[in-house]
Amino acid sequence: MENRYPLLLACRRERVDFTPVWLMRQAGRYMKEYRALRARYSFLEMCKTPDLATEITLMPIDQIGVDGAIIFADILLPLEGMGVDLRFTEAGGPKIQNPVRTDRDIENLRVIDPDEDVPFLLEAIRQVRRALEGRVPLIGFSGAPFTLASYLVEGGHSKNFLRTKKLMYQNPESWGRLMEKLVRVVIRYARSQITAGAQAVQLFDSWVGCLGPDDYEAFVLPHSQRVFKELGRDVPFIHFATSASTLLPLMRQAGGDVIGVDWRIHLGEAWKKIGYDVGIQGNLDPTLLFAPPQRIRKAVRAILAAAENRSGHIFNLGHGILPETPIDHVRLMVDAVHEMSQR
Ligand code: CP3
Repeated sequence: MENRYPLLLACRRERVDFTPVWLMRQAGRYMKEYRALRARYSFLEMCKTPDLATEITLMPIDQIGVDGAIIFADILLPLEGMGVDLRFTEAGGPKIQNPVRTDRDIENLRVIDPDEDVPFLLEAIRQVRRALEGRVPLIGFSGAPFTLASYLVEGGHSKNFLRTKKLMYQNPESWGRLMEKLVRVVIRYARSQITAGAQAVQLFDSWVGCLGPDDYEAFVLPHSQRVFKELGRDVPFIHFATSASTLLPLMRQAGGDVIGVDWRIHLGEAWKKIGYDVGIQGNLDPTLLFAPPQRIRKAVRAILAAAENRSGHIFNLGHGILPETPIDHVRLMVDAVHEMSQR
């Protein structure tokens, strides 16, 4: 049945009876069942307990009817095995206590062994696959080298990525060594998920849109390209970034069966830039889910119209769902995609 899943068919640009839809961060704080668990456990505890990660991964499948599950985990989980002290603060998101600032810090980073360093993730993937009983495919994911480098160097989220860019511009050789190490980590992290049972993989280069095309080409593209090349073609890959409209042709060149785009560009225009021989994922503005139902349906219709019935469109938000999103509106959006895209 593996080949009949609409989501996987769309990744390969094959014909589907309706446009498949899933949401980035679909298992999270907008769900009261998630918040109830979260009141008892920290985010990292939830990621590291396969029973909990499995329960959370399944929540949106049962409750909103999406066409894919994404494993409950985080792009920052492999950093701990690299020797980084990672915390999730209640207020400000992830914080790295010992950010990477010197050549010596870069040398000291370990390339992870997923069986040793993230066994809980691989166990959760196996458990989710069993629990899904073939209802929908399971998506695994990893950060892309640039976005992971930005967290390592900045120590957390950043507005202008100054430390990251300073390393790139002032010390390009050190930057290259850091990226090469991350390439090896990302390849191992993603491959171990595929071996454990992930049926597609999304590479999140969430913050790479802070770069212009020339710097993307020089400092990022060769590394991301190596990741895709070495991961091969056993499962489809989705390559996602935000605020990256000007980078789309280069992202496509780096790799991926599907390119994920945000709402800052019209989906039709984005697909034209990417090329119709690659799929596209997106691109509803997550804040539109706070609009009245008729407005949401109108936005869904516009995105489906922009895809012009071509094979290879996966409907998604342009970035993660926001914690306060009304769940009724999420269901309404998923239903609207299914209803309006019937072929
Ligand atoms: O999509 C899913 O449902 C799977 C789970 C998932 C999480 N993080 C769970 C999470 C995925 C795919 C991610 C990816 C991720 N993590 C990215 C790339 C996607 C993006 O948003 O661009 C990034 C940059 C991270 C790093 C990260 N993790 C940040 C910046 C934060 C804090 C921001 C926030 O929303 O609080 C996290 C925490 C995090 N990751 C939460 C969840 C559900 C919130 C944890 C909580 O309950 O407090």
